[in-house]
Amino acid sequence: MRDEGVIGAKSLLDWYDRHARVMPWRVSPADRLAGSAPDPYHVWLSEVMLQQTTVAAVESYFKVFVTRWPRVTDLAAAENEEVMKAWAGLGYYARARNVLKCARILADDHAGIFPMTEQELLKLPGIGPYTAAAIVSIAFDRRAVVVDGNVERVMARIYRVENPLPRSKAYLHRLADGLTPHRRPGDYAQAVMDLGATVCTPKRPACGICPWMIGCSARAAGVAAELPRKRPGMVKPTRRGVCFVARHADGSVLLEKRPEKGLLGGTLGWPGTGWAEALTDATPPVQAEWKTMGEVRHTFTHFHLRLEVRMACGVLGEPKAGTWRSDAGAGDLPTVMKKAWKLALGD
Ligand code: ADE
Repeated sequence: MRDEGVIGAKSLLDWYDRHARVMPWRVSPADRLAGSAPDPYHVWLSEVMLQQTTVAAVESYFKVFVTRWPRVTDLAAAENEEVMKAWAGLGYYARARNVLKCARILADDHAGIFPMTEQELLKLPGIGPYTAAAIVSIAFDRRAVVVDGNVERVMARIYRVENPLPRSKAYLHRLADGLTPHRRPGDYAQAVMDLGATVCTPKRPACGICPWMIGCSARAAGVAAELPRKRPGMVKPTRRGVCFVARHADGSVLLEKRPEKGLLGGTLGWPGTGWAEALTDATPPVQAEWKTMGEVRHTFTHFHLRLEVRMACGVLGEPKAGTWRSDAGAGDLPTVMKKAWKLALGD
């Protein structure tokens, strides 16, 4: 039966058989058909890493993790600091802490084996409805309704849902449920996400090559690029702060561990002021001749940051904040701190 372009699992799966993206954690549709199954540990780790991050950014981190910690029990036995370091630069550091917590629970209470139901998976730290559904469907090939931002966009378009997000969330989930097949649910889940990432993209959807082109209501109405509508959003505020990059004559740098809770929790960074709308008084962490090097910009989920970078070098005294660490550690910093380091070095 030919059903190219018509909305249904079959036309999408046919498309996926030809166009599935290659990812280090993914089992291709051909290999899956031949009997291969992905490692649930790989599926879980990649899905957590992919939250709020692109496939391109995640690939190298994923490879480092599974090379260093080939099984979830190896990860469970790792030192906190080692894992935080390996995560540095991926952002959203609460995810790294939850990854460790989850690995340890799996090792201690589940013999290192992932549960196969959403209900059981949801009890684990860092696993929400999306991740639970993704693991059940991709790792175990059992039917689960996997809905991320890509899937919401695809549903909003093919069914022309004009109601804006986030109000339309539950409805979009029901539409996704209606399309999810019992056959090949794992491939189907990955196929809709691939479609959203490569064809049904936010700005310029490539409707001409879409496997669901014929049935798509938004395309027929000429509004595909406008959907999903979003409630007029709040504009992100800008916060400002100062950070101090101190470089000792012996090559060490002054770094401070951020509190476990909160933004960039548990990661290393340059000492400095808090980040607020108005620039606050900046007390240097060590007595020195400080030079202002400029400003770095970084965008977090809820605000833009403009961070002034001051630098001092030389034989420096006892610090009031932070500890001296070997310079090499500056490579494992979160992105915003790396930007400050680069600016300080004049890169
Ligand atoms: N985005 C997040 N998880 C994904 C997956 N498993 N396949 C494609 N895109 C994704």
